Amino acid sequence: MNQNAHEPASLPVPAADALDASAALAAHIREAISQAGGWLPFDRYMELALYTPALGYYSGGARKFGRRAEDGSDFVTAPELSPLFAQTLARALAQALTASGTSRLIEFGAGTGRLAAGILSALDALGIPLQSYAIVELSGELRERQRATIDALGGALASRVTWLDALPDHFEGVVIGNEVLDAMPIALYARTAGVWRARGVSVDEAGAFRFDDRPLDAPEGQTGKEDAALLAEIDTQIDPGGDYIAETHSAAAAFTRTVCSMLVRGAAFFIDYGFPRGEYYHPQRSQGTLMCHYRHRAHGDPFLYPGLQDITAHVEFTRIAEAGVETGADLLGYTSQARFLMNAGITEALGEIDPNDVARFLPAANAVQKLMSEAEMGELFKVIAFSRGIDGAIDAFARGDRSHTL
Ligand SMILES: C[S@@+](CC[C@H](N)C(=O)[O-])C[C@H]1O[C@@H](n2cnc3c(N)ncnc32)[C@H](O)[C@@H]1O
Repeated sequence: MNQNAHEPASLPVPAADALDASAALAAHIREAISQAGGWLPFDRYMELALYTPALGYYSGGARKFGRRAEDGSDFVTAPELSPLFAQTLARALAQALTASGTSRLIEFGAGTGRLAAGILSALDALGIPLQSYAIVELSGELRERQRATIDALGGALASRVTWLDALPDHFEGVVIGNEVLDAMPIALYARTAGVWRARGVSVDEAGAFRFDDRPLDAPEGQTGKEDAALLAEIDTQIDPGGDYIAETHSAAAAFTRTVCSMLVRGAAFFIDYGFPRGEYYHPQRSQGTLMCHYRHRAHGDPFLYPGLQDITAHVEFTRIAEAGVETGADLLGYTSQARFLMNAGITEALGEIDPNDVARFLPAANAVQKLMSEAEMGELFKVIAFSRGIDGAIDAFARGDRSHTL
């Protein structure tokens, strides 16, 4: 972990205007730290770095999604890899819509809009009527990109898409979020010589951000009941004398509670990388899972180029499951992305492409390999879904459901 040398030599240096924007965001965060008395909890730092209007990574002009560093992007997500992802996911969504007798979708954090466009087209091809496809997007810049992608669909399909400024109190339909939970701010805790401290951010004499750990009984270090219980649980599982860094996910849990409370009838699907609690807080992950992405390089320094790089952590799916079930929703299923896509028919979807059409077939087969392979996204990524008032099971969870591991 590189805390203070904020320009690792191995990473490409941003353009001058991007560096100016990053400097403006850093000044804004320094001001927030100063106003808070010299220290901010890490989740607040992460929120400012990602979502400060106009300057945060997701709210500002960074390119973000793409296949290669040369195009100025930082990472690639499943919908960007292949249209077969949206097409296959749409089969599971179609079943959830039919089983709940609903015809509305909400997508959270729609990125470039490719998943939305792919799902709309696939549902149309499956003959599933869709009344509306609403997108909840925090970033104005991404909304514009999504609008352009959706407009390219043209006509009747594009006209079903709307952008929501606020969530409805009640929703009947199906919710989807790909790689949204991992983009929610996490709290950090560091255990040194058997004592947990809240890990936050302060500013050193040179004006650089640095990690700064505060006692849990200090006014600024105080933590919620759920986090405190989790830290105590980690002590019972992992040698309490050893050093350990843990992140906790109360923002993602609160988000899940909100979505599941809103859901009167239907289902909510979230796809992301992560593990159930027993695997998550593991001796081998003693440095936590905080990760930054800049130009397709992953590294561990959240203070590098604020606003120009993604900051993320793996999702702790047990906390997500607990949050959803607390609202009275049913856990519909939890499995690996590979299992989910296999059950939902990705192989059949690939089979519909003529293997002699090499220009189409080869990239599709490569993408499916990436989505499914244990060594790539197939095993690390999971799908968790909640439901209310659904009649019958969903084929995508029929084989290999791992709800019992949560
Ligand atoms: C890693 S990107 C994934 C984008 C897209 N789903 C994809 O797969 O390409 C994370 C997205 O989640 C969005 N996001 C984070 N928190 C959110 C929230 N509370 N509500 C809606 N979107 C959110 C971000 O703005 C961003 O668009």
